[in-house]
Amino acid sequence: MFKITKAEQLTSNIYLMDVVAPRVAKSCKPGQFIIVRLNETAERIPLTICDYDAEAGTVTIVFQPVGASTHKMTSLKAGDSFADFVGPLGCPSELCDEDIEELKKKKILFVAGGVGTAPVYPQVKWLHEHGVAADVIVGAKTKDLLILEKEMEAVAGNLYVTTDDGSYGRHGMVTAVIDELVAAGNQYDLCVAIGPMIMMKFCCLTTKKYGIKTIVSMNPIMVDGTGMCGACRLVVGDEVKFACVDGPEFDGHLVDFDQAMKRQQMYKTQEGRAMLKLQEGDTHHGGCGNCGGDE
Ligand code: NAD
Ligand code: FES
Repeated sequence: MFKITKAEQLTSNIYLMDVVAPRVAKSCKPGQFIIVRLNETAERIPLTICDYDAEAGTVTIVFQPVGASTHKMTSLKAGDSFADFVGPLGCPSELCDEDIEELKKKKILFVAGGVGTAPVYPQVKWLHEHGVAADVIVGAKTKDLLILEKEMEAVAGNLYVTTDDGSYGRHGMVTAVIDELVAAGNQYDLCVAIGPMIMMKFCCLTTKKYGIKTIVSMNPIMVDGTGMCGACRLVVGDEVKFACVDGPEFDGHLVDFDQAMKRQQMYKTQEGRAMLKLQEGDTHHGGCGNCGGDE
């Protein structure tokens, strides 16, 4: 069992938990994810890692209730436990493999949207700990939905906060801030955009105009996170990839977002999954038995 030591509601629909998982905490790298299960018969829930403390042996997760299991998770308190807490899974951010001195020469921009701010945080923190100051844009619908501002401020080179309704920080979407920063003369070598699919799509369209290589995290299309259900199948350039085993991070300029979003919608219904099976064969669903599948 994996004990929850802290359970906090950050906004009306975003929750944070610290979980004791020493082996996961020791080997975590930015960009990876974990899978939790509430009990032995519960479904697997893949969640991005927000932070980890190898010394304390804890991993911080941030989540938004979307389905029955994540709704159940909102009632867990400090002292409660998860039956399973598996990870770290997926490939770490490619930044972790780069030469630090080379990274220091690069101008890096992170774009975090809503709950996507949680997986951006460990990457910016990791860079900060290695002497690299990255610029960060954080976008939220309203002031009340903004998360981790203080934490991000402590590790970002420059932090730009924007809200869709103008209730805090700048007024408008994250893509407008990218335009503003480029117009002000910032020459970015790399952008990492993590948030809702639609945000990542439009960030990529924006950075493409400026020729800025852009990495995105395809975590939103994962279902079981194990490579078996086929939900996270996506087209990257001329290749078919699976977000949970080949990613979650990919070159955003090569991702077919329209197809991924269409597929995500189809996967939600039994009829849609049957159509995917017809179109794509058995790779759409290997029958993991944990994601709701074709039952
Ligand atoms: P949201 O809808 O509040 O959007 C956050 C920000 O994204 C907005 O404030 C805006 O600045 C920007 N944005 C949204 N639509 C845009 C558009 N069309 N063009 C430009 N910018 C746009 O975000 P939320 O409700 O907190 O996010 C929920 C989603 O985030 C879920 O779908 C979840 O799957 C996803 N998510 C993604 C990851 C990941 O790894 N990519 C991690 C956690 C959550
Ligand atoms: Fe990747 Fe199921 S989430 S195969």
